[in-house]
Amino acid sequence: MDIDKFLEVAVIAAKEAGDHAHQFQKSDLVIQTKSNEMDLVTQVDKDNEDMIRARVLSTFEGHVCLGEERGGTDEICDVRWVIDPIDGTVNYAHGLPIWCVSIGVEVKGIVECGVIYNPNLNEVFTAIRGKGAFLNGAPISVSRSSDPTKSLFVTGFPYHVDKNPGRVIEQFTAFLSKGLLVRRLGSAALDLAYVACGRFDGFWEAYLSPWDTAAGQLLVREAGGRVTHYDGEDYNIHKKSIIATNGVLHDMIFSIIQESARKFDTSQATS
Ligand code: IPD
Ligand code: CA
Ligand code: CA
Repeated sequence: MDIDKFLEVAVIAAKEAGDHAHQFQKSDLVIQTKSNEMDLVTQVDKDNEDMIRARVLSTFEGHVCLGEERGGTDEICDVRWVIDPIDGTVNYAHGLPIWCVSIGVEVKGIVECGVIYNPNLNEVFTAIRGKGAFLNGAPISVSRSSDPTKSLFVTGFPYHVDKNPGRVIEQFTAFLSKGLLVRRLGSAALDLAYVACGRFDGFWEAYLSPWDTAAGQLLVREAGGRVTHYDGEDYNIHKKSIIATNGVLHDMIFSIIQESARKFDTSQATS
């Protein structure tokens, strides 16, 4: 399998879709809701996914796609493209320039390469398994920070945060009450890309989908970081929770999440 070729096409597709969305952000967007009033989708999300699929399927015979807006097979395939046509749709719909296109390519269930493109900053993050992570072609690595009080963390919340699933609210306050600096950007893919390039030192979130993390988790690993679930198991994009860090701070974040799970029994919902 020519993984370099897969990445080349993934970058072309992400750029086409990202530039298309960037151009349309200034227009009147057709915005609809999905699971609830907070969970938005625009026509651009759908068109973007169609564009990416068309590019992939016209280039590679026999490949399949799994995307947020158009669905796809849940079965492990020879080659499956895992697509988030806009990650950060709420930001996008509000004109906030914190969103991206994310594409990961799985071969027999293992993500072999990925791209995250943020047209707002003209940043292209890429990774191939075993070959490192890059930002606009230059190698990147996770931070070396070992002092939590001098670190910057990021997290996110699911659209049903009002139901406080897995006690995400108490878990968040557990980090804040330790005086840690925590951001919430609204794009899990960018959160991961920014851990990979050292802008953030750690990220955690539950209730994510494969398209949110397929490319980003590979970037973090290839940049020298560590990625697990809330239960400590090695990360797999088809499970819901993620902890992605520079490695040095991983156990610290893991233990705060575990402590909060013991208090509130969050284990079921967030493994
Ligand atoms: C969302 C973003 C957000 C995260 C949500 C995701 P979307 O993806 O990644 O940061 O907190 O859980 O669903 O809906 O913008 O593609
Ligand atoms: Ca997403
Ligand atoms: Ca999306």
